[in-house]
Amino acid sequence: MASCHVQYLVVLVMVPFSTLYVIPTHANLTPDYYDEICPQALPTIRFIVEKAIISEHRIGASLLRMHFHDCFVNGCDASVLLDDTPLFLGEKSAPPNRNSLRGFEVIDEIKEVVDKICERPVVSCADILAIAARDSVAILGGQIYWYEVLLGRRDARIASRDAANNNLPAPFFSFPQLLSSFYSHGLNLKDLVVLSGGHTIGVAQCSFFNNRIFNDTNIDYKFADTLRKICSPIGGNNNLAPLDSTPARFDATYYTSLLYKKGLLHSDQELFKDDGSESDKLVQFYSKNPYAFAQDFGASMIKMGNMEPLTGNQGEIRCNCRKVNY
Ligand code: HEM
Ligand SMILES: *[C@@H]1O[C@H](CO)[C@@H](O)[C@H](O)[C@H]1NC(C)=O
Repeated sequence: MASCHVQYLVVLVMVPFSTLYVIPTHANLTPDYYDEICPQALPTIRFIVEKAIISEHRIGASLLRMHFHDCFVNGCDASVLLDDTPLFLGEKSAPPNRNSLRGFEVIDEIKEVVDKICERPVVSCADILAIAARDSVAILGGQIYWYEVLLGRRDARIASRDAANNNLPAPFFSFPQLLSSFYSHGLNLKDLVVLSGGHTIGVAQCSFFNNRIFNDTNIDYKFADTLRKICSPIGGNNNLAPLDSTPARFDATYYTSLLYKKGLLHSDQELFKDDGSESDKLVQFYSKNPYAFAQDFGASMIKMGNMEPLTGNQGEIRCNCRKVNY
């Protein structure tokens, strides 16, 4: 295991060889992964996420989205966090992410503090993303939205811009396109409806829903009219609108909005068209059952978080989430 800074070299001298060089060999992720190696890791991450959300509510949404964009592109391996280098163009600057993904500074802060508290770099950036996403959901939604996050992921040494361009669903996708995107990641129709519920928090830029508010017919007239005043038919406008009417509250309101044709993105409203489809039934069900949504959201997040993790000797534990170790 590489040491990250001079201060870790001091630790290297003081800590017995055996405790430093235990390389976990679990092929599967487990909830108690850090219980022995660094019991303070999870409370520390929760504390920093809370602090960040207090200073800006939206950051919780941004952190949730970041984990999703990490997992959908070559698995949950923190590849999304790598800065571009002369050797490769990363995912961060790919069109679905550029000027859109945010929260990188919070991840940097978590990494720095956690490595200090654990006295060595044992917590992967990929796990930090998974934990920060879960904590954001539980902080903005309350304890019913808490779920046990599985851990033990390691960090990738590469990132792929092409993979980012090809693997993330787009807001103009039709229902069949959304479904096939989720299928290609081992997720099903229920996961699609449940995970889209992540849009119960946060906001989107006009450019992602302009076409919907000016051209779609499956949209509430007044809702569209209000949004048209914020945005512009000719585009070039990055003003923001909330993804549901309570963007700082993780709840089931997103689904209720869909029942009233008030989904912000075209892809949101694709889940409810009032045609009696399976997807429609799930939207109706979750709008009335926040507890069921909470249960199912946790289960689908765990499923998403299990996508192609690096474990055992694969990858590395990065010292700086933005760069691979030398
Ligand atoms: C189903 C396909 C999905 C599409 C097409 C989609 C698309 C988008 C788009 C276009 C935005 C606005 C970005 C911007 O304005 O910069 C957004 C925001 C967001 N997405 Fe999704 N998304 C999808 C699924 C998900 C999933 C599965 C999650 C998490 C479980 C998620 C969580 C979020 C959050 C929390 C935001 C707000 C971020 C913020 O305020 O910073 N999305 N999404
Ligand atoms: C509405 O649709 C027309 C025809 O497809 C297109 O040219 C126009 O750009 C769309 N408007 C917006 C705001 O996307």
